[in-house]
Amino acid sequence: MRHLLGIEGWRRDELESLLDRAKAHLPGGPDTTHLLRGKVVANLFFEDSTRTRTSFHMAAKGLGASVLNWTHTGSSVSKGETLLDTARNIEATGPVAIVMRHRSSGAPHLVAKHVKCAVINAGDGTHEHPSQALLDAFTLRQRWGSLDGRTVLIVGDVLHSRVARSNLHCLKALGAQVVMCGPPTLMPPGLEALGAEVTHNLDAVLPRADAVMCLRVQLERQEQAFLPSTREYARLFGLNAAREERMKAGAVVMHPGPVNRGVELAPAVADGARSVILEQVSNGVAVRRAILEVCTA
Ligand code: CP
Repeated sequence: MRHLLGIEGWRRDELESLLDRAKAHLPGGPDTTHLLRGKVVANLFFEDSTRTRTSFHMAAKGLGASVLNWTHTGSSVSKGETLLDTARNIEATGPVAIVMRHRSSGAPHLVAKHVKCAVINAGDGTHEHPSQALLDAFTLRQRWGSLDGRTVLIVGDVLHSRVARSNLHCLKALGAQVVMCGPPTLMPPGLEALGAEVTHNLDAVLPRADAVMCLRVQLERQEQAFLPSTREYARLFGLNAAREERMKAGAVVMHPGPVNRGVELAPAVADGARSVILEQVSNGVAVRRAILEVCTA
């Protein structure tokens, strides 16, 4: 039994081993419903989610598990029950794994110290979203074979993005160059020390990118004072049709979702030929099956 709390610190061979394993879980692969038959996976979501929660649900079902879908709305959190009491009570119902999302960075790490089952971080505050980074890397590997020598441009609200942080660790470990681009007020310090190239000029770096990962401006996590207007943001950092034309031949457009259409990504680009956004979602199920398999082994 092991936890998946973040990507930071994972070695390349460990990442590749999990991503290789995920290939066996793609549609049409061998029947894996025996792997967690009779077991329960608990989804413990203190924050809203469409993709991650449903994807872990589908992944657990694909391994033969039953799924306990707990969300904070309608729960005893409203009566003041603590995070640890909630997690311990859910654990007492007998799951082999808790898949957990929380608005506070480090919350899954705290829970992991107090429960015996596996804890899988499904996004903690602005810290990490490891399964998202793994499915992003999987999608790029499926296309390119290897990430060595490839340039991935991550654009947007890097400051509040757990996806960006996990992807930086994951993509760098797998051999890619990572360029981070966004408004100065939405870029955290220390990105260069983690191996990223940092720029505020999207048009200058766009033609170099093999993949452009657009990020949502996370209005729910910030002071409005630090934000450019939506119009200004779209003009300076939005991936629109004119910018898409200046991308490299074969370069792909990614987004972890949910998309603010017309802000960081024009609808025509989100739904266009370069977009692999729904491929990311589909691959997420296979990758999360592999995560559940490895964490509960
Ligand atoms: N990518 C992602 O985490 O989406 P959800 O918030 O819908 O889970």
